[in-house]
Amino acid sequence: MSNQRSSLSPHVLIFPLPLQGPVNSMLKLAELLCLQNIQITFLNTENIQERLQNCTNNQNYFKKYKNFRFETVPDGLEEGNPRTGDQIPNMLESIEVKVVPILREMLGTCGAYEPDSESPLTCIIADGIFTFAVDIAKEIGVPLLYFDTISPCGLWTYLCLPKLIELGELPFKDDNLDEFISYAPGMEGIIRRRDLPSFFRTKDINDRILQLVLKEDKHIPLAHGLIFNTFQQLESPILSQMLNICPNIYAIGPLHTHLKTKLAAETTSSSSIWKEDKSCMSWLDSQPTKSVIYVSIGSLAVMTKEQFFEIWYGLVNSGSKFLWVRRPGSVSGLDLEFEFEFDKIPLELAQGTKERGKIVSWAPQEEVLAHSAVGCFLTHSGWNSTLESLVEGKPMICWPYFVDQQVNSRYVGEVWKIGLDMKDTCDREIIEKMIRDVMELKKDEFLKRAEEMAKLAKESVSEGGSSFVDLDRLVQDIKLMKL
Ligand code: UDX
Repeated sequence: MSNQRSSLSPHVLIFPLPLQGPVNSMLKLAELLCLQNIQITFLNTENIQERLQNCTNNQNYFKKYKNFRFETVPDGLEEGNPRTGDQIPNMLESIEVKVVPILREMLGTCGAYEPDSESPLTCIIADGIFTFAVDIAKEIGVPLLYFDTISPCGLWTYLCLPKLIELGELPFKDDNLDEFISYAPGMEGIIRRRDLPSFFRTKDINDRILQLVLKEDKHIPLAHGLIFNTFQQLESPILSQMLNICPNIYAIGPLHTHLKTKLAAETTSSSSIWKEDKSCMSWLDSQPTKSVIYVSIGSLAVMTKEQFFEIWYGLVNSGSKFLWVRRPGSVSGLDLEFEFEFDKIPLELAQGTKERGKIVSWAPQEEVLAHSAVGCFLTHSGWNSTLESLVEGKPMICWPYFVDQQVNSRYVGEVWKIGLDMKDTCDREIIEKMIRDVMELKKDEFLKRAEEMAKLAKESVSEGGSSFVDLDRLVQDIKLMKL
């Protein structure tokens, strides 16, 4: 079989975690590999595929690439079940229990995706949280590459978890979240308890999410290699530590910029699973340079009603222009249709919003961040959002919600110094002050550092840059993976 197949073209199955952020990054990777004549089968859950189809023209991928195809599997959740952040453990469980058997059947038992196919699978790229992928890759006899779409600095704290438990640091002995943690190689003097992923704050070591992460920690070193959406100059100390876990690391980000560089004049395809409201672009066109603060908490984060009003007051009181993404379902207990009826909200909010605000339910975020009118990003610090802002040289005000976001916001504030971290607070006065600092008082220093970082990011994906070289190595390695 191996001789017969040795002349066949490489064929990669890509399986992302079915959430907006991971799907975005994996699709960018898929396109980059397609451009190198690698056959891609992109495995989406039916839910994601349907939403992609309804919101964007996902036929674009088929039109653009003959060597790209989508396949779908169910996610195992009931039809009406929300696919929100708090459902991630349920989703992972249902994927493992209900979806993996379907996947196994799809892949067949004879070591090929389609036994009679001209193009059997030669590699699997799966999200790092999919621990089952190790066994599946072994069964069909192909190498597995894990692509953890969260930040490497966030993932590194996951990988430090077993040692933190062994040292008795977890569960935390008291409520002092400002204590620096004693074990975090490569992050010494940076990470406090407060900066660890929020689920580390549990009092129960048997906590479901903690156990999922511990399982991930055991499986990551079993992969043939690890792919990251980052670049050397951003996270070099972390990437060096990662080499101790897996000697084969590919840091090929920022992926969206990398793809734009390779596509040159062509436009990139949107992979939004919410309908983008493009009216915000003409609104931005009419605003002065760097006058607008863009606000979005990504695809999963949820805020309380109280936090919603604190943010709203903070924005209005700052006197800045603002473009705010209010994703349906992102405020618990509030029907977001309500605040468009200005007569039902406090007068000062209604007036300030009419004068200086623009509200949409979902934005073309990459385009928004690239717009010259945007001067700052109030973000939940999701990894894609962080990179998209960084590449455009836009300083951030960080309000992290969960997973890697607490770590990312710390790095933005303390290590890269391209923004402020308002972690664990949500107070209108603090928000107003931070906006004034970033948009007015310390504008020049934040902008200078953000622009320097953007330059490094762009250099990394240009010819000869570290991410450019790593992508080349990844492509060559995939091409050498024959059955
Ligand atoms: C999740 C996790 O929350 C995050 O911490 C992890 O790093 C990746 O997975 P999510 O909430 O989806 O992320 O945030 P993020 O990673 O920032 O991805 C959101 C994506 O949605 C971005 O690519 C952004 O451009 C896009 N987006 C967001 C839009 O296109 N329009 C919007 O209005 C808001």
